Amino acid sequence: MIVRELENVEKNRALELSLLHQRAFPGFFLTQLGVSFLNTLYKGYLEDENSGILIAEEERIIVGLIAYSKDYPKFFKNLIKHRIIQFAWCSFIAFLHHPSFAKRLLMAFKKSDSVVKDKDYVELASICVDPAFKGRGVGSELIDYLKNMVNNSKYAYISLETDAVGNDAVNKFYIKNGFTLEKQYLSSEERKMNEYRFYLLDEK
Ligand SMILES: CC(C)(COP(=O)(O)OP(=O)(O)OC[C@H]1O[C@@H](n2cnc3c(N)ncnc32)[C@H](O)[C@@H]1OP(=O)(O)O)[C@@H](O)C(=O)NCCC(=O)NCCS
Repeated sequence: MIVRELENVEKNRALELSLLHQRAFPGFFLTQLGVSFLNTLYKGYLEDENSGILIAEEERIIVGLIAYSKDYPKFFKNLIKHRIIQFAWCSFIAFLHHPSFAKRLLMAFKKSDSVVKDKDYVELASICVDPAFKGRGVGSELIDYLKNMVNNSKYAYISLETDAVGNDAVNKFYIKNGFTLEKQYLSSEERKMNEYRFYLLDEK
């Protein structure tokens, strides 16, 4: 298995990323927004100068991914700015199927705008592994790659958010990979969330 960063010129593989996302997150919010929404999102990570995608490949097939951003609020602003037409169209279609999603989507953008953190950090925005490859160390290898890739004199920590309730295996996965619980909070939909951080070496 190879873990590497996906290049901007490999944008044509966004569909592969979206289908993997759908397999790994069945029934989840972003999955229900549809494959073209996910395509727009993953292409956005590849196009953004401060963001990117790490992939785990097995015989040239993507079996795991991490989407990250070194400036998450700006990433969302750029996504809307550069892909406004596709994004508006996908959001409109999603809204027709699931009207309640409009509020959730708006809250997600609003939140990205209101994030104020004391230090520069890297957001681990999404991680997923093909269900057929779960529990074989793929997710941990992707996280190790991200930890080694981030310049620890520039960025203080890697941050991520995940559900606190009914999500024990995922919470265990992050703790096993050296993340520590920073805080718990209620999301706009009253979901209890855990914020984890992995502090990079220079911070210790
Ligand atoms: C969470 C996830 C990325 C972990 O990747 P992975 O390659 O299965 O994880 P690894 O093999 O590197 O590590 C295994 C550890 O993760 C945890 N784990 C989480 N989900 C697991 C699963 N379905 N099967 C096995 N282990 C799982 C366990 O603690 C396990 O440790 P153990 O072997 O000591 O019990 C992957 O299961 C996944 O894609 N889940 C669905 C998407 C998701 O929920 N992503 C997180 C969003 S916040």
